[in-house]
Amino acid sequence: MPFRENISLGACTSFGIHSIARYFSAFSTVDDLQELLMSVEQLSSADSRLKTLILGGGSNLLLCGDFNGFVLKNEIAGIIEVHEDNEFVYVKAGAGENWHRFVQYCISRDWAGAENLSLIPGNVGASPMQNIGAYGVELEDIFWGLEAWHIKEQKLVTFTKTDCAFGYRESVFKRKFRDQFVILNVTFQLRKKPRFNTQYGAIEQELALMGVKELSIKAIADAVIRIRSSKLPDPAVTGNAGSFFKNPSIQAEQFAALKKSYPNIVGYPNSDGTIKLAAGWLIENTGPDSTTSWKGFRRGDAGCHSRQALVLVNYGNASGQEVFHLSEEILQSVKSTFGVELEREVNVVGCEL
Ligand code: FAD
Ligand code: EPU
Repeated sequence: MPFRENISLGACTSFGIHSIARYFSAFSTVDDLQELLMSVEQLSSADSRLKTLILGGGSNLLLCGDFNGFVLKNEIAGIIEVHEDNEFVYVKAGAGENWHRFVQYCISRDWAGAENLSLIPGNVGASPMQNIGAYGVELEDIFWGLEAWHIKEQKLVTFTKTDCAFGYRESVFKRKFRDQFVILNVTFQLRKKPRFNTQYGAIEQELALMGVKELSIKAIADAVIRIRSSKLPDPAVTGNAGSFFKNPSIQAEQFAALKKSYPNIVGYPNSDGTIKLAAGWLIENTGPDSTTSWKGFRRGDAGCHSRQALVLVNYGNASGQEVFHLSEEILQSVKSTFGVELEREVNVVGCEL
């Protein structure tokens, strides 16, 4: 399993930002991964500055500059039904499977639970990383377990749902164990009898527009696909990584105070009494100066999308550093206007202020 050297990563991320990897290789089995990690160890002993990056579909990654190290692209394939009981089927998918194709595969077999997560870009292996979520469902709602390779200790480790410590766009893999494990496969617990989730208002509206009389998991998936396609820029046309920031949560008292000054501010109550603010609204309602909004703002080829302010875009030749600087300006601007701190959702590599 040799590494290739000086490989362009431009087409490997949905931002489409130019970057060169010093060493690059894909793997589709655990044996290949182990072999690659041995090479990583050998080459790193001569140069300890070399870093390692596990790559999936590249749809939540901002690369600044070239990557001085090893990019290991996970291409482990396969979807198998591993177990079944009265209520559920348990399905194991390889980390390299495309997420949306996996969701479609489940729908085609009438396995319910993943349909609200239709059309999220990227691969199965990264789905636990930030506990992907959309339209009222999060990965943890259908997650059963995963197997991961411990890079340093060279051993297979099994994680249950509790072990993963999932939160809103959070898991142990994003924090405590960042860069320590390669997720190899994920097992999902899917319902034989669906529990439809249309709590997210826009789904009901879209189903009505579609003229759906009888609810099905396919109809929900189609509604979600239609909503997403109308709102979010297609990375094949305009480079982006979805929401650049998380929606921040604040105390109810702070929300009440903000509501006095900004009666239209958008917030949703969390179960713990705090309020989750729509970061898109905060970004839209501030800007580079007192008369302009960030929404639709463009400097060079880096910008803030004109239909969804939470999405930063690369119109062609933006550098990672330019997008990162824009994200920092937005972050500071939201902080000084509303006193609310945004946190980046996208994984940034090599970016500096
Ligand atoms: P990558 O971008 O390749 O990697 C992301 C991170 O995970 C990196 O740190 C990488 O090192 C690590 N990683 C990847 N694979 C592995 C592995 N096998 N083992 C260990 N670490 C790994 N996200 C949502 O939650 N909800 C949405 O609705 C949503 N909508 C989006 C819409 C658009 C248009 C885009 C472009 C993105 C959107 N995203 C959304 C973000 C993105 O799709 C998800 O975060 C997705 O799970 C990323 O998968 P990926 O394979 O592309 O990961
Ligand atoms: N809004 C604005 N202006 C904007 C954008 C949004 O005012 O430019 C306000 C509107 O009031 C809107 C509200 O924000 O009703 C919510 O917007 P939207 O429904 O588009 O969802 P979001 O909060 O911006 C989140 C996720 C998305 C996910 C959707 C649907 C985060 C960080 N983002 O976006 O996930 O697809 O909800 O569930 O939680 C991602 O993580 O990459 C992602 C795209």
